Amino acid sequence: MLTVLTVLTALTVSSLITHPYSVWSGLGALLDPTEGSLGGFTIGMPISSVIGYLNTKLRDEIPQCELIYSASNPLALHISINLPATGLRLRIDAVSQRLVVIEVLDMFALTLRFAGKIISGPRTPLTFVNVQKHFGPTSPGRYDDARQQYIHAYSGFALYFAIPSKHQAFVKNSATFGMFPDGTTPVAAKICLYHGKWDRPTLPPLPLGSLYMQKVVVDVRHGLHFPLERTVVRFGDTCQDVFSELGAPNHVFHKADVRAIVATNSRQGSDSDYFYNYFDRGLDVLFDAQTHSVKKFILHCNFPGHFDFNRYSKCNFRLLGSSLVARHSRSAVGPASKQPASFGELDGEPPTEVLVDVSGPVSTSSKRNRDADSSRGSAEAGVHENPFNVDLASVLADDPSENDPYETVKAQECRVIHPNMTWDAVQHLIGRPRGKPAVYNKEVTLNPFGTVQFHGFNGAIFEIMNNNHIASVTVFRPAVATC
Ligand SMILES: *[C@@H]1O[C@H](CO)[C@@H](O)[C@H](O)[C@H]1NC(C)=O
Repeated sequence: MLTVLTVLTALTVSSLITHPYSVWSGLGALLDPTEGSLGGFTIGMPISSVIGYLNTKLRDEIPQCELIYSASNPLALHISINLPATGLRLRIDAVSQRLVVIEVLDMFALTLRFAGKIISGPRTPLTFVNVQKHFGPTSPGRYDDARQQYIHAYSGFALYFAIPSKHQAFVKNSATFGMFPDGTTPVAAKICLYHGKWDRPTLPPLPLGSLYMQKVVVDVRHGLHFPLERTVVRFGDTCQDVFSELGAPNHVFHKADVRAIVATNSRQGSDSDYFYNYFDRGLDVLFDAQTHSVKKFILHCNFPGHFDFNRYSKCNFRLLGSSLVARHSRSAVGPASKQPASFGELDGEPPTEVLVDVSGPVSTSSKRNRDADSSRGSAEAGVHENPFNVDLASVLADDPSENDPYETVKAQECRVIHPNMTWDAVQHLIGRPRGKPAVYNKEVTLNPFGTVQFHGFNGAIFEIMNNNHIASVTVFRPAVATC
């Protein structure tokens, strides 16, 4: 499996100051095991916060960080951020992109404080005897024969002690100990912070009210539904609508052609389409310059190795592939029928019972009746429960199968496309796109991250990375087949 190491400084615009020694002691790497935190890092925090903290608070302190991830199979391994000068390694769960384990791999590189005292540092080895003094008793540890280390776990953190070979038999045979028979005591080689069990770390629940990685139901005929927030944004909505439903965007971006602006000296963006960027939601909304209404949504998966990595949070979308299938197989009767068969054609069944033109507004007219269609207002709050007429429970259900995370019965039934899926799995679900993909390779100087391909359906464009994973999905209202 290809693993890539990127020096994270490439992501930080400003230059980094190189220090010969870590000055983390000045920062006070405060160990707070009860909160699962070390310094400014807390178990469960999103990767954007981890990198944000490194970039803002620690920019001058940390000479270099490394980002390590699997390029070929990005969901299979943790994403690691190594800070070699401090001996710190931050492990990020690849699917949720949240910090799951904090490790201090070099106890002598970092000064650790706990309860107002320095407990470990370059001149302060953390001995087993002192550990018990600082943290009190805990259940007996475990001797790991293969690694010749003794693991001493408390709730939320564990200490690892290397055991010299002459004492291994002794440690193996004593349920608990403080000193070796010769009166010496082992020194901690590593400390780990986690949630759950030391050998099976889990993620803590998100803070109350957090919207991080909330599920977003996407129907290309309607728009986006945020069940947790009970919010819906639709194609054709005005920017005021979007603003009131999703809040202020982090950024507004005009698609203006820069050369045109220079040439005509026109006011910037006055007549160009524009985006609302919601970086925290992993989402862009594209508005039409003339009508100021929603044309497209772009959902980002935030994979490391992609050009936009860490610009957006991951959007945890559930795209209803059945709406795409319906469009796709119907129009395939036309000139496109020579193209590879879609899923629906292969098994000869109608696209699916869910979602096929149930509620209608696959508008044949370009203008929608906003009053009739809008589900805003408290009087219609009930509509928000299930605005797109789908089996919401099935659509939102997580994939229970560890072995085969891409194809479960439920996903098959609803043809739900989610960010875990490979492009192969997507095609298995909804058929192949028509036409050739567009290959996109930014200038090499701008983009050391490799090419991406764009595959178009009537209603969605998938941006696929070399590793077969989805970088982004652009959704728009499908054009009605004219043939
Ligand atoms: C994605 O994969 C993870 C890890 O296997 C799993 O826990 C999660 O439920 C999956 N998501 C979906 C939508 O299936």
